[in-house]
Amino acid sequence: MMHSSWIQGDYEVTTDPSRIDIVVVHGFLFDSYWAKGIPRETVENSIRNSLCFGVYRGKEQAGFARVITDHTTYAYLADVFILPEYRGRGLSKWMMECIVAHPDLQGLRRWMLATRDAHKLYKRFGFRPLAAPDRWMERHDPDVYARKPGP
Ligand SMILES: CC(C)(COP(=O)(O)OP(=O)(O)OC[C@H]1O[C@@H](n2cnc3c(N)ncnc32)[C@H](O)[C@@H]1OP(=O)(O)O)[C@@H](O)C(=O)NCCC(=O)NCCS
Repeated sequence: MMHSSWIQGDYEVTTDPSRIDIVVVHGFLFDSYWAKGIPRETVENSIRNSLCFGVYRGKEQAGFARVITDHTTYAYLADVFILPEYRGRGLSKWMMECIVAHPDLQGLRRWMLATRDAHKLYKRFGFRPLAAPDRWMERHDPDVYARKPGP
């Protein structure tokens, strides 16, 4: 499996899953507003079955994003974060540039994501509110992790 990497100064974005610090990623997602209480094993399984992007300074995980995709027609962008101590220096914008430039994610018919307040970040990469929300349906179970035993 070929991994993609991009380097800028002290930072690296890479899709190499062996670089992911699962304690850091699980720790952030466990406290996040969208995946509160997510079990460690659920995070591990989701990473194994996704195309993941990590931002690193040396070995230190600074950020993360997960793309759920068939690498051909569709991608769903999820679990995007930059750790608080690394925010405000353009890392999420750079990670987004790397994501949309990834060779396996070209020519897709659709990208999707959901966000509470980061619309402006995604807008610059071409994301727009649903043009026809009446055509979309979802099965949403926001409390699913609360019903499972924690880590
Ligand atoms: C959102 C987040 C990833 C931004 O990371 P960052 O590296 O600090 O952001 P950058 O320095 O690359 O700048 C992001 C740009 O998006 C904008 N932005 C839009 N929504 C934002 C938000 N909710 N938080 C921070 N910046 C946001 C910023 O203003 C900035 O634009 P500007 O350069 O024109 O001012 C980071 O604040 C984070 O991890 N937040 C908590 C988790 C989260 O909400 N993730 C997104 C889930 S959809």
